Amino acid sequence: MSEKLHVDLTGAPQTMLATFYAKALDADLPNPILGDRFAKEVVDRIDYDWRKTAITAANSPSVTTRSAHFDNWARQFLAVNPDALVLHLGCGLDTRAFRLDPGPGVEWYDVDYPDVIRLREQLFGARDHYHLIAASVTDPSWFAEIPRTRPTLMIGEGLTMYLTRDDGVALLRRIVDHAPSGELQFDAFSRLGIKSQWMNAVVRRAGATLHWAIDKPDDVIEAVPGLRLLSWMSPFDSTRFSDIAWYYRLMAAVMTPIPALRYMAQYHRYAF
Ligand SMILES: C[S@@+](CC[C@H](N)C(=O)[O-])C[C@H]1O[C@@H](n2cnc3c(N)ncnc32)[C@H](O)[C@@H]1O
Repeated sequence: MSEKLHVDLTGAPQTMLATFYAKALDADLPNPILGDRFAKEVVDRIDYDWRKTAITAANSPSVTTRSAHFDNWARQFLAVNPDALVLHLGCGLDTRAFRLDPGPGVEWYDVDYPDVIRLREQLFGARDHYHLIAASVTDPSWFAEIPRTRPTLMIGEGLTMYLTRDDGVALLRRIVDHAPSGELQFDAFSRLGIKSQWMNAVVRRAGATLHWAIDKPDDVIEAVPGLRLLSWMSPFDSTRFSDIAWYYRLMAAVMTPIPALRYMAQYHRYAF
């Protein structure tokens, strides 16, 4: 058996170990939410004390319902844009390109910090029409290698909150200016979500800091010209939330009537 890969990450890049581990655990459940066999296949090749992630099979739906939701939105975009370009930003070890397995007309770019991309390169095989970019998503220089002619889907799952508002807004504007048309699909935390980051075990244990608070779509639309809102919802409103363990449904039932709690985390989808 090949030697295990030792992983030593801190801050925002470390958080992707938690989301990745949730997907690997989910794949072993009798009724998986995401069923990510690629995560399951590689998790044992990583030398890491997974207990540090604070993720267990019981709390894995807090991650996998979100990933399943963004898989659905991405599938919808790809179904009508078979010649799309996908910018999967802050990809971590997520295997979305493998799960969705888009057709040969789609060019897919996974972007994350160099340490994360190096790990990806060692864990996952190459694919046709699949590219890795080892850079901060906020560094404008990598856009030079992105073709400008295709309908472009930006996916930022678990990303925006790690950016400052200025960097995040500049990134979204850059995408809208760069591509002829497309969609932005990402999740965000409200001001209350950012303020209560000390309660988020994944963030706390990684020593990461959350910055950018988005309370509502107008915060984005006013900052990024050219956007049209397609969808905005609480994770509790996602259909993926309806068939999970009773304690999550109970939490959703308690939080949903209170807007400040319902929208602490949100899913955003815009066309441009
Ligand atoms: C919570 S993890 C989410 C990973 C993956 N999207 C998922 O859902 O499993 C956050 C990811 O965003 C990445 N990230 C945060 N800020 C970034 C930046 N400025 N540039 C590139 N990646 C960034 C981190 O390295 C990490 O992989």
